[in-house]
Amino acid sequence: MKASRIEAHLRRCPILAERNALLACDYCSPAVNTGAGETELDAELEEAEPFDEWKFAARVLRAHAAAGAIAACVAAGAGGADGDRTSADPPGDETGAAASALGGGRTGKARHQEQRDAIAARMVSMGLLNQGHTLVEYGAGNGELALTIMLRAEAEVSGETAAEVKGEKAAGAKAQLGSVCLVDSAKSPAKNADGRLRGLLAGSSPALAPPARITGWRPKNGGGAGGSGGGGGTGGDIGGACFARVRMGLEDLELAKLAERIAPGRHTLLVAKHLCGAATDYALRSAVALRAAGAPPAAVLIGTCCHHRCDFRAYPNRPFLCRLGFVHRADFEALCRVSSWSSVSTAATSERAYVGACAKALLDEGRAEYLRAHGFQATLSRYVNVSVSPENMLLTATAVVTAGMPAAQ
Ligand SMILES: C[S@@+](CC[C@H](N)C(=O)[O-])C[C@H]1O[C@@H](n2cnc3c(N)ncnc32)[C@H](O)[C@@H]1O
Repeated sequence: MKASRIEAHLRRCPILAERNALLACDYCSPAVNTGAGETELDAELEEAEPFDEWKFAARVLRAHAAAGAIAACVAAGAGGADGDRTSADPPGDETGAAASALGGGRTGKARHQEQRDAIAARMVSMGLLNQGHTLVEYGAGNGELALTIMLRAEAEVSGETAAEVKGEKAAGAKAQLGSVCLVDSAKSPAKNADGRLRGLLAGSSPALAPPARITGWRPKNGGGAGGSGGGGGTGGDIGGACFARVRMGLEDLELAKLAERIAPGRHTLLVAKHLCGAATDYALRSAVALRAAGAPPAAVLIGTCCHHRCDFRAYPNRPFLCRLGFVHRADFEALCRVSSWSSVSTAATSERAYVGACAKALLDEGRAEYLRAHGFQATLSRYVNVSVSPENMLLTATAVVTAGMPAAQ
């Protein structure tokens, strides 16, 4: 192609325009959550021993047992959902054999809803809803998780308001739904929950949520004040409850700045379900950065997924894996590869499935430990039965608030 034609194309290329608009937003900082700035590791340069499947499997099992010793192992039920715990628990008996009965006759849709309900229920039990926090869903896809959570929040708030009216108390300031922001690098699916979220936040009862100004705020000319992202952001304006969808990669997101744009001074609830591989690590790094910026998130709840898509650089706790003998980049990559064995579904392969699940548990335990080392209380638990989803691990964390830090508001 002629240079002049390339130039003409670049002048009207919508993808480039979108990218430039995104880069102009203050909350977009290329590769900020990737660990790219960290020092070169010897582990990246040295040779690892050649991969031998069975030797490696034995290493995974040994490391898993050792991690259990490090992190006070609590025995869990046979593959069912369990309460919070702190260890890299082994998978239950259901992994492999029973996983073949995945779904137990339920549709994929029903199983996804069960997972959303479980996360929302966990948030209710933690007292996180109706606090007016800003709910940020990472890897939001259709936004149904945020919708499920907000419906639960609305039910909480309605119940609360009714009780207060009965008791002749004024509706408290607590009676707020807060705001919602969906973040995903992909285009929003045509069938999404955005309209219902907007409707919910606009709210029929002023006591539930101040009327949101649901206006498009796609940034023009590279993003203006209140813009939600050149990557296709649309949303409500700042102030009161608002809704926004931001299209960008988590690797580039400065959550503190985005949250400040959505609802200044509000604390963030960071949630995700089936957040693939490295995206979970970008998310954790962004949560740690948010706390470091003096705005500790009220909670982080992430359903991890697709560990085979983790990235050595982005993984935030390589020292944890090093302590367990996975020193080299090649070890890390083998661990990720082996983690996908957990999804094999016949009884005959259940040994491999067990090793795979142990590899996943190790990767997740390192993540929980990373959060603990950065001022969070973090636990791992299976939030649904493995027959609902083999990707059933929920990393739950709350920020430890130290002197001088703002309490959640
Ligand atoms: C497996 S889907 C899960 C979607 C939805 N949360 C659910 O449970 O149905 C993972 C989602 O994460 C998004 N995603 C993956 N990597 C991402 C990244 N680096 N930044 C932002 N979104 C990402 C994908 O576009 C996709 O929508």
